[in-house]
Amino acid sequence: MKNNTSEPPGRQTGLKLARRTSVINLPKDSQIATAISPAMHAPVVVPVSGEVVYHSVEAMVHSDRPVLPVHCLRPSTIVSTAKWFLRQFPGEVMYAVKTNPDPRVLRYLAHAGVKHFDVASIVEVKQVADTLPDAKMYFMHPVKSREAIASAYFEYGVRDFSLDSHEELNKILEVTHGATDLNLYVRLAMANENAAFSLAGKFGVSMEDAPALILAARAASAKLGICFHVGSQCMDPQAYGRAVQHVVDLLDKTGVKLDILDIGGGFPSIYPGLMPPALPSYMKAIKKTLKSHPQLSACKIVCEPGRALVAEGGSVVVRVELRKGNMLYINDGTYGSLFDAGHPGFVYPVKAIRPEGQGKEKLSPEVAEFGFFGPTCDSLDTMKGPFHLPKDIAEGDWIEIGQLGSYGATMRTNFNGFYSDATVEVADKPLLSIFGVN
Ligand SMILES: Cc1ncc(COP(=O)(O)O)c(C=O)c1O
Repeated sequence: MKNNTSEPPGRQTGLKLARRTSVINLPKDSQIATAISPAMHAPVVVPVSGEVVYHSVEAMVHSDRPVLPVHCLRPSTIVSTAKWFLRQFPGEVMYAVKTNPDPRVLRYLAHAGVKHFDVASIVEVKQVADTLPDAKMYFMHPVKSREAIASAYFEYGVRDFSLDSHEELNKILEVTHGATDLNLYVRLAMANENAAFSLAGKFGVSMEDAPALILAARAASAKLGICFHVGSQCMDPQAYGRAVQHVVDLLDKTGVKLDILDIGGGFPSIYPGLMPPALPSYMKAIKKTLKSHPQLSACKIVCEPGRALVAEGGSVVVRVELRKGNMLYINDGTYGSLFDAGHPGFVYPVKAIRPEGQGKEKLSPEVAEFGFFGPTCDSLDTMKGPFHLPKDIAEGDWIEIGQLGSYGATMRTNFNGFYSDATVEVADKPLLSIFGVN
C-alpha cells in the first residue's frame, strides 16, 4: 500500500508484523518498535531503543505474571496513526501532550514526523524539551502562572500562548516585558454538545466578548491565532464546520487579519457503545469547511489531537484480586489509569488472560457482564461498565483494558499507595480500532 493513501494506518503493511513470532526486520514505519520476541513467551532486548518488546500483551502476562498493573505501549500503532494524521490533516498536527506525556510516546510521535507539541504546564514544557530538544511547543492553557510564562518564554523559547481574557493577555505582556515576537491565540468558547467529554464552561471567551479580545490580541501579536475545542471524543464531524463558521463570523465582524486557525482536539477513538463515524469523514468535513471560506485561505491551519492519536497505542493490564458476584476487585482504578471508567463511566474494551498450566482450566467461552472496584478504600473507586468477560473469570486472572494510550497513565495518583509505572512495549494489535485493524 502506498504511503500517500488515505487508507487508515492499521491496514498498512507495518502492522502485519504483529502476527509474526520470529525476530524480523521491521518496515521503516515501525523501526522504533525494535524487534519482537523470537519465542512467544520470552522477551528480547534489542539495542535500538533498549526496550523489551513483547510479541503481545498475552505473551507479557505469560512471561511476567505481573503483580502490579502494567502499561503496554504499541509503538507501531502510534507511529502509523500519527503518519496517517500527518498525511490527512490539511495543516499542522500538534500533539496534546497531556494525553500521554511518556517520553517513549513523545519519541514515537517524533519518529512519525510530529514536530509540534501542545503543552499545558511548565512541567510538560520541560518533559518535551528534555525528550525532544528540537520540538516546537505551544503553551495552549488559557490560564498560566506568571512563573510558568516567564520560564516558557525566557528559558525554553516558547512564543505561542493561548488566552481567553484581557487579564491573561496583560499578564503575558507584562511577564515578557512587552515582547513583540509573541504569537497569541484567542480561545473561543464553543458548544460541546456532540462530545462525550464536554470541555465547555471552563475556558473560552464568549462570542459576545470575543471581538474586543481579538482586536487587543491582534495589536499585541506578531502572528494572531484563534483556537477552540469542540469537546473530547467529538461524535459529529460537522461540529468542526460549525465552529469554523463562528470564527469566520468574528473575522467579518472585526475585520482583523488572522494568521493561524487552530481547530483544537476532539477527534474520537472508539469504545464499546461509543462508535463514532470513521476518522476520514472528519478530515473530509474539515477540508470542505476550509474550502468554503476563502477568508481562511491564507491562514495556517493547526489541530491539537490527543485521544485519537494515541488511545489505541496503549493498554493496561490489571489483575483480579477478588470476585464478589459480578463485581471484580482489580489492582488499578479511578485513582490510577482508569479515571474515565469511573466518573464519566467510559466502557473500555477488555480481554481476559489466564495463562495455561498450574492446574488452571481454560477461560469459559461464555461471557457475562461485570463491574470493577479499584484497589483504594474509596467507594468512588468504582467502574460500573458493563465489561464483558468470560463468566468464570476469577481471582488471579488478568485483564487487558484497551484504548488507554490516552488519558490512562497520565491520570495516575498514588492515593492509598497504589501506583505502578511498569511499562512495556508490545507488538500486537489494539483490542478495538477506529481504523479497523483488530
Ligand atoms: C487545549 C487542548 N487541546 C487539545 C486537547 C486534546 O483533546 P482530545 O484528546 O480530545 O483530542 C485538549 C484536551 O483537554 C485541550 O484541552
